[in-house]
Amino acid sequence: MDSTHGLRILITGPDGQVGWECRRSLQTLGQVLSVGRAHCDLSRADAIRAAVRDASPDLIVNTAAYTAVDRAESEPDLARAVNADAPAVLAEEARRLGAALIHLSTDYVFDGTKPAPYIESDACNPLSVYGRSKLDGELAILASGAAALILRTSWVYATRGHNFLRTIVRLAREREELRIVDDQWGAPTWARSIAEAIAVIAARAGRDRATIAASLAERGGVFHMTAAGRTNWHQFAQRLLQRIADPERRLRSIAAIPSRDYPTPAHRPTNSVLDCTRLAGLWGVALPPWDVALDLAVDGDERAR
Ligand SMILES: NC(=O)c1ccc[n+]([C@@H]2O[C@H](COP(=O)([O-])OP(=O)(O)OC[C@H]3O[C@@H](n4cnc5c(N)ncnc54)[C@H](OP(=O)(O)O)[C@@H]3O)[C@@H](O)[C@H]2O)c1
Repeated sequence: MDSTHGLRILITGPDGQVGWECRRSLQTLGQVLSVGRAHCDLSRADAIRAAVRDASPDLIVNTAAYTAVDRAESEPDLARAVNADAPAVLAEEARRLGAALIHLSTDYVFDGTKPAPYIESDACNPLSVYGRSKLDGELAILASGAAALILRTSWVYATRGHNFLRTIVRLAREREELRIVDDQWGAPTWARSIAEAIAVIAARAGRDRATIAASLAERGGVFHMTAAGRTNWHQFAQRLLQRIADPERRLRSIAAIPSRDYPTPAHRPTNSVLDCTRLAGLWGVALPPWDVALDLAVDGDERAR
């Protein structure tokens, strides 16, 4: 197969958790181009336009985002620029080219008061600057008229990058006791599961620009895409540490605490479990249960230690 066969795919955020995995999972679909911060600062519309026009992609996969949930409370303008304004420009450029856009969003668009898993049409009411900026990004994409799929995921982790898994493994070496909240419920989702699902969706959507754009225009919009099942941060940490044998661990106990005993600048939803039925029905894609994926992620991976 020559290198021009298949789709031209442009990935933003190639060094992030999901972007790093997408650079690998999308290779079989065609030519994967990626633009990191050095070549395309997403807080600059002119840089985004130049990067997209230069690449002329059939599909844009926007994995980049301002993801520092607590820091966003004191940097709302930057969070908004990257999470709301940049997706709007990407969508505009995709529409101009007749290309498709796959964008990632978050469970933090909800306020967490629903006593059951959220479906896509449930009312959004973000509790944080980050959640608000991501919701505004969704709305801008939907308003653009671009052929787009918005995938809301949650609690993303990997054995590299900045995330809860890596923090817990590090803290378990540094401390004898940890205190972790047990009253926020959600689905930890492995970055690789997300990237593999995006690859399947892109493959099912079509092999050329016109077909993939038509598919996403027809079966696009907002979808929930997280690991199956639910847990809380305390249970997640316990399962993780059970699965990893680390000779350097000092940790003796993990106490379960309520969120009120661990105040953070940003408020987080109590329940952010997402119902992923729509994605399974329209695209035939379902991510594995969170505990199965966690075992796969850490099994034999030295970086998890
Ligand atoms: N992490 C989670 O728990 C979580 C939960 C729900 C939804 N999501 C969503 O899932 C998607 C992927 O998240 P992730 O965890 O893979 O993110 P991540 O690991 O934090 O990576 C984000 C990437 O965005 C890039 N970026 C940030 N600001 C930028 C800018 N101004 N210009 C260019 N690039 C910039 C970062 O570049 P640098 O490497 O240069 O910093 C980084 O590579 C995002 O849309 C996020 O909102 C994440």
